[in-house]
Amino acid sequence: MFARSAARSLTSQSRLFSTTAARLSKVAVLGAGGGIGQPLSLLLKSDPSVTSLSLYDIRGAPGVAADVSHVDTGSEVNGYAADKLDEALEGVEVVVIPAGVPRKPGMTRDDLFNTNASIVRDLASAIGCVAPNAHVLVISNPVNSTVPIVASTLAKAGVYNPARVSGVTTLDVVRAARFTAGIAGVRPAKAPITIVGGHSGATIVPLLSQSTHGKGIKDEVYDKLVHRIQFGGDEVVKAKDDAGSATLSMAYAGTKFTNALLRGLNGEKGVVVPTFVGSPLYKDQGIDFFSSNVEPGVNGVEKIHPFGQLSAEEEKLMEACLPELKKNIEKGCAFVESS
Ligand code: NAD
Ligand code: LMR
Repeated sequence: MFARSAARSLTSQSRLFSTTAARLSKVAVLGAGGGIGQPLSLLLKSDPSVTSLSLYDIRGAPGVAADVSHVDTGSEVNGYAADKLDEALEGVEVVVIPAGVPRKPGMTRDDLFNTNASIVRDLASAIGCVAPNAHVLVISNPVNSTVPIVASTLAKAGVYNPARVSGVTTLDVVRAARFTAGIAGVRPAKAPITIVGGHSGATIVPLLSQSTHGKGIKDEVYDKLVHRIQFGGDEVVKAKDDAGSATLSMAYAGTKFTNALLRGLNGEKGVVVPTFVGSPLYKDQGIDFFSSNVEPGVNGVEKIHPFGQLSAEEEKLMEACLPELKKNIEKGCAFVESS
């Protein structure tokens, strides 16, 4: 009994953390005191591929760092208070940003723009000065706009490299695997679903037709599943009832993405992970950022995977996605231009 549950827990841990040869990987979390930041910091402390953790927030980061630093893994942990952003970023290779306000019931992610746009812009500006070669992973919403904000801010500073700026869309594929597995009666690991587009409602386009267990799902069950994947975030916002949005599943997803990137940076081949990046896939339609599966390598996002044939239903989903995504991206770029 014990052996079976221990083996199961090892399997689930190895799904989150996979390691290659050890090297120094200093990771910063900006917004480390928040609902996502705290469990994310804990999970990153447990990731053997992270050797140093730099935790920053405008409130509470030194306390989180002191707490997390007692966990018996090898990495060192330092916490930085509000006036220590530059110090927090020194020598950092990967910066994860969950700083900003979350939704309340009735809000869209775009409703967060007015508050979060300037938070993300200012953090990106500091990264551009202190850690211009860092890989920046953006969690703060609205991701469809905050990623263009980070990219445009770094571009303004003359240090933008599209291989190094990613929007974290991993939670969408985590949810899709979980929900699809529930319908198909298989384990989530057996039901990976490719998701393309962006990270909000109609811009989240699940490609169920390309999945062994998704392609057989039809009609009303299909419609409900697509809706649940696109609006899974709303389920959590509603259930939390004014106390914010997904934090724990997001910390899991953020750790999963960070680990995949670090494995690529470590030289591991064949790591495939979804992310919202500067992408050629819809550039001819004026859409400069797009989420799809990518392959991280030693320089960051090295290969952007094209996706295959869409079904008739997916073509319709894509038609709804593209104009909204374009608008969200343009809003982010315009914000930086006018700053
Ligand atoms: P939270 O309010 O619990 O935490 C946010 C933290 O950011 C707070 O500790 C706050 O002090 C800090 N912060 C604010 N301004 C800052 C600044 N200038 N510098 C550093 N830290 C700053 O919110 P949360 O639940 O952790 O959510 C954070 C963000 O992540 C929200 O925008 C939310 O919408 C987004 N989110 C994204 C995904 C995704 O899939 N990408 C999933 C869930 C939540
Ligand atoms: C999510 O998908 O859970 C996040 O983007 C948070 C939200 O606002 O729904």
